[in-house]
Amino acid sequence: MMCVSLRGFKIYKEFLSLDVQRTLVQVLRPVLKSAPLFSPEMPNGGTMSVRMTSAGQLGWFSDPSGHRYIDRHPEGREWPQIPEEILDIWRKLAAVDRMPECCLFNYYGEGARMGLHQDKDEMDFSYPVVSISLGDDGLLRVGGTTRRDKTESVWLSSGDVVVMGGDARLAYHGVDRIRFKSSRLLPKGGRINLTLRVVT
Ligand code: SIN
Ligand code: MN
Repeated sequence: MMCVSLRGFKIYKEFLSLDVQRTLVQVLRPVLKSAPLFSPEMPNGGTMSVRMTSAGQLGWFSDPSGHRYIDRHPEGREWPQIPEEILDIWRKLAAVDRMPECCLFNYYGEGARMGLHQDKDEMDFSYPVVSISLGDDGLLRVGGTTRRDKTESVWLSSGDVVVMGGDARLAYHGVDRIRFKSSRLLPKGGRINLTLRVVT
């Protein structure tokens, strides 16, 4: 298995076989059914182009009053459990003594992107964030721990897994664009990114 490092992010290319990718898409269906995707509103007034939901004890949420983890879907139900098949990827790559409390589900439709940001709503940055890509290719941009640091980009494809940990845990990152319909994994196209996080 090939692992390349980009500004401290560990990128495991083709970590998931096509069979496993297909299984993940299947196990995510009931998650989406009980926790439908929503479009988070940002504190600056905009609406994210990426649609989101979560599984686990906690889910990430944003509205005009700020972004944070909450213990229920905005419609009121508890978040569904993180499927075992997804936890298995954390077990293989995270190399820490705790399991994730959140699996954030991001869906990028045609034209969706995610601006450069740090993941810092979690309480302990010694735990990595493990990021799984499914479906269309996405152009990941990675910088340093300040917004001014130079950035480098890499295309992530379906089945790639990225471990954002160590000195790079607080590195700025974002997704500039996707190549819509570059993959046939999702019948309607688009990109799914799952991030596993220890929150508390
Ligand atoms: C994120 O930063 O939450 C998502 C990264 C990605 O979509 O690859
Ligand atoms: Mn992030």
